[in-house]
Amino acid sequence: MSKDNTQRAVFATKIGAVAATVGSAVGLGNIWRFPYETGVHGGGAFIACYIVFVLVLGVPLLCAEFMLGRGTRSNILGAFRHSSPSGRYWVGTGYMVIIASVMILWFYSVVAGWTLGYCYDSVTGVIAGMDTADIGEHFAEMTSGWRNVVLTLVFLTANAAVLLGGVTKGIERASNLLMPLLFVLLLVLCVNSLSLDGLKAGLTFLFRPDFSKITSEVLLGAMGQAFFSLSIGMGCMTVYASYFNKDSRLGRTAMSTALLDTMVAILAGVIIFPAVFTYGFSPEQGPALVFQVLPVVFGRMPGGMIWSSIFFLLLIVASLTSTVSLSEISISYFSEDLKMSRRKATLVSTAIVMAGATICALSFGPLGGIEIFGLSLFDALDFVTSNICLPLAGLAISLYVGWVVPKKFTKDQMTDGGAYPFAWYGLLMFVLRWVCPVAITLIFLNSIGLI
Ligand code: PFF
Repeated sequence: MSKDNTQRAVFATKIGAVAATVGSAVGLGNIWRFPYETGVHGGGAFIACYIVFVLVLGVPLLCAEFMLGRGTRSNILGAFRHSSPSGRYWVGTGYMVIIASVMILWFYSVVAGWTLGYCYDSVTGVIAGMDTADIGEHFAEMTSGWRNVVLTLVFLTANAAVLLGGVTKGIERASNLLMPLLFVLLLVLCVNSLSLDGLKAGLTFLFRPDFSKITSEVLLGAMGQAFFSLSIGMGCMTVYASYFNKDSRLGRTAMSTALLDTMVAILAGVIIFPAVFTYGFSPEQGPALVFQVLPVVFGRMPGGMIWSSIFFLLLIVASLTSTVSLSEISISYFSEDLKMSRRKATLVSTAIVMAGATICALSFGPLGGIEIFGLSLFDALDFVTSNICLPLAGLAISLYVGWVVPKKFTKDQMTDGGAYPFAWYGLLMFVLRWVCPVAITLIFLNSIGLI
């Protein structure tokens, strides 16, 4: 493991740094959440908004988090404290994202548990042999009982094991090896989509936007999805950038991360929607969508059992690289601010997440009656973190980096201390100062009916 002079771990290679940020970004957000949100919000119009948000809010905020992280080499709280004299007044945002990261882990690890269950069912041949009619029942059975809890806890144990392996060893190795493989497998599944009867209907749903469908709900959903998928507004990319080398060019890394992440999401859409229309599923069914559609796709592919086993295995790994990054937020806080050993910090964080995730897993069964503003516990956690906490933190980060952090700091970061020119600096700062705050505020006000 290489160390820089401040004794923090750094990623061993430049490629490793990009792979790890992509590893954080690419996960269930792309393959599970993107298709279901697209389905719920009517297809093409949602995707068009999503892509605009990735470019206009996502890439600049990724740069902002990278600047804070690499420039201060510390966790999200230190990133505020050490980047400007008045940074300590912004630390509240840091506490909010630490809490939000734990809340995301509560529901995210439940979905990752389903992935684990589907991987097991693939290897044992249950998935490939399933009739279309049985699929809904199988999903309900899997999610409503204690099996859901056990799967979630098994996943979180694996997550803790990777975290205890340390930054460069555990995360980097896993990301480098398996992310490209996931990408290839998604391409194979896309090719398979080409042969489906519902191809045209699926692609039309995805890529022919009906702009009259853009409502405040669609805008809020697309903005939340862009934040969730790129792991921004969470301090997660800040922590990762604190492990970057001095010369990992931030602008490029932000662009490559956003591009790869969006490609994976679109590929997932191309896999799911032609199948939705071929086999008569409803695109609007929400979180169960991918887990209902994929078994049918695999069931009809030659060698489906093998494909589905590999696919769900890779999806577990993609989820792991994301949960590892989410866990880093609280772990780096516990170990650096509360002075716990890294091992203890990991164990404490895992215990907190396991407790909450167990309750969240039970919200599909025994605790199904609990509702918050008409949403189940699971849906409420998803909605509040993605659509409210992440954009709120994004708003604070854009204002802070745009207006408060000294120009020397931001310029130094974007040019690697003057080593490379960065022609987009002026535009980037304009977007962070004006476009991000105004856009996020307008979408919030619009969604609560004030404008
Ligand atoms: N971006 C991850 C995904 O798409 O699955 C989820 C995520 C990871 C969200 C880390 C937020 C975060 F800080």
